[in-house]
Amino acid sequence: MENAWIDARGEGAPIAEAETSAGRGTLINAILSRKSVSPKHLGEPGPTEAEIELILQAALTAPDHGNLRSWRAILIPPSRREELAELFKLAKLEECPNATGDDLDRAGQKALNGPLLIALLLNPVADHAEVTVEEQYIALGAALQNMLLAAHVLGYGAMTTSGRKMQSRALREAFVRVPGEQLVAFVTIGMRARNSRTRPTVSGKPYVSQWEAHSDPSQHCGETGAKLQTSGCP
Ligand SMILES: Cc1cc2nc3c(=O)[nH]c(=O)nc-3n(C[C@H](O)[C@H](O)[C@H](O)COP(=O)(O)O)c2cc1C
Repeated sequence: MENAWIDARGEGAPIAEAETSAGRGTLINAILSRKSVSPKHLGEPGPTEAEIELILQAALTAPDHGNLRSWRAILIPPSRREELAELFKLAKLEECPNATGDDLDRAGQKALNGPLLIALLLNPVADHAEVTVEEQYIALGAALQNMLLAAHVLGYGAMTTSGRKMQSRALREAFVRVPGEQLVAFVTIGMRARNSRTRPTVSGKPYVSQWEAHSDPSQHCGETGAKLQTSGCP
């Protein structure tokens, strides 16, 4: 089955072999077949400029209560990867002052893996009348998933990574521009160096139940809920 999204990328875009196989033709198949690929196994080529634009457009179509767009993405140019690797090492030293040379090399390598590296930051609006900070993290998560799906449909592997380094002074000083902004995750995108394992089907049933009335009202957990914000009421 032909893949309408791949066709929509425009002429001249490279179509990865995996993307021409049957079964990728529907959105549901794309979602069900996406699988993270470790940045260690992501190689050249990375997405083209036009594909990066599509990936960002995909992120921007994710649900976002109030369209706050309190997140932003920063592309790390290849020419600055070594600089980032030094910051990853400094972050490791902040976390583990006794880190060995090998530990630092491993930490630094994480900044060098994969052809495209994107940092995601969130600057949540703390006092919005309607939209909680949690909802803004969810909106960023939805944008992130759309990026991963877009990369997958375009024939690339991708993975989100983070870790304790995200809170390090070294990385915060390099990325955070306003008080309250959080460095949330990195997304690496590139061509899979090897075929990833097929994702096993996971049943949704254990994760869902029917809403039923409490048979014994005394079993209610007793929480009364947070006080509703009443400012702005008529
Ligand atoms: C915000 C975020 C940060 C993550 N950080 C890491 C990480 O630092 N290291 C890691 O191994 N997995 C991390 N993960 C999980 C992987 O990206 C991936 O989702 C997981 O390995 C499951 O693989 P799958 O996406 O194929 O289901 C993170 C996921 C999210 C959403």
